[in-house]
Amino acid sequence: MIETIGVVGSGTMGIGIAQIAAQNKHQVVLHDHSEKQLSKAKEGLDKIMKRLVEKGRITESERKVINSRILFTTNMGDLWPCGLVIEAIVEDITIKHEVFKKLEDIVSDHCILASNTSSLSIASIGAALNKSERIIGIHFFNPAPLMPLVEIIPSIQSSKSTSDSAKELITSWGKTVVMCKDTPGFIVNRVARPFYGEALRIYEEGIADFATIDWALKELGGFRMGPFTLMDYIGNDINFAVTESVFKAFFYDPRFKPSFTQKRYSEAGFYGRKSGRGYYHYENEELNSKANKDKVLGQSILDRIVCLLINEAIDAVFMDVATTKDVDLAMTKGVNYPKGLLQWGDEIGLEVVLKRLQDLFDYYGEDRYRPNPLLRRMVAEKKKFYS
Ligand SMILES: NC(=O)c1ccc[n+]([C@@H]2O[C@H](COP(=O)([O-])OP(=O)(O)OC[C@H]3O[C@@H](n4cnc5c(N)ncnc54)[C@H](O)[C@@H]3O)[C@@H](O)[C@H]2O)c1
Repeated sequence: MIETIGVVGSGTMGIGIAQIAAQNKHQVVLHDHSEKQLSKAKEGLDKIMKRLVEKGRITESERKVINSRILFTTNMGDLWPCGLVIEAIVEDITIKHEVFKKLEDIVSDHCILASNTSSLSIASIGAALNKSERIIGIHFFNPAPLMPLVEIIPSIQSSKSTSDSAKELITSWGKTVVMCKDTPGFIVNRVARPFYGEALRIYEEGIADFATIDWALKELGGFRMGPFTLMDYIGNDINFAVTESVFKAFFYDPRFKPSFTQKRYSEAGFYGRKSGRGYYHYENEELNSKANKDKVLGQSILDRIVCLLINEAIDAVFMDVATTKDVDLAMTKGVNYPKGLLQWGDEIGLEVVLKRLQDLFDYYGEDRYRPNPLLRRMVAEKKKFYS
């Protein structure tokens, strides 16, 4: 039983993870090297906890107890009693290595060391440790207290007991846990690429504008937001950086090729909501074009993007990144897709998905449309993902 949880880095993710651990009755040691950042985190958490009291989610006395469980500290040595430390600092392998080396000198031999990294491999982070069997990826989504999904990523160094303990603990916090292989983008950031990439491609080919593509995905497909609205929300700079990093990490597999449109929007400072302009204008919304609500066009856009997403989900199963169930859970709980993609494939009919991909592949002759071998095999054997 792990009593004390350490969190390193009190930024966006670290503070959320500390909140979850404290709400789940753990003593928490939240360490950041910046005093200023720590007080900002403390203020931010105070506000959030007070809001939870106002909304009636917790009582005032519970708020006080939860707050009192968190030690905010710039002294890394305070992490000594922790049974698990989750690192959530800058995405830089050199700095992460320094932190993990120091951590190993502070904590006991039994302490599990986890990283919340989105884009680095867990194996590369674990390489800094003497006892690398204790390394694990525990990938929360933003905002961590609200998003139900957590991806747990054992690396080739991780022991089974490290992986089992992490899974048991995070599940006990009420999170939906999916297990995945230490591959680029893990599940969500890998499988979701075509949602953005294919939408951009459809726009670049002049098939439809941003508003029409968003309308098709949202209104006809049931996605919470269209891809361009979502990219503007995430920030084009951030979304482009993730796309580029996944592309590089996959040794430039053309399926993940970034788009010039997004690069240019990012270069121009059209990041989205946060900069007042992205694919849409947020200061003067009258400048935005209206969607062409042609159902036939909309359906063809939706079918194309969904089939590429399904193909990517199938690839994750084919390459043993995760199970069918976990791939579907990851996309519904991590990015709120209206349905699991493999279930969606079954519903559309895998033979229909294969035909649409094959048609795109024949037309373009590009690898990004190549149907996955598992899809071909399942169609040949008349199988479904769920019986
Ligand atoms: N922001 C997201 O949406 C998101 C989602 C999932 C995972 N992640 C991952 O989580 C990690 C943290 O991301 P973030 O967005 O919270 O970053 P952030 O920039 O908001 O916070 C990073 C914090 O780490 C602190 N820090 C930096 N170096 C440190 C050191 N050597 N020792 C102690 N503290 C140090 C900084 O002072 C800062 O407070 C990254 O690995 C990122 O890839 C981010």
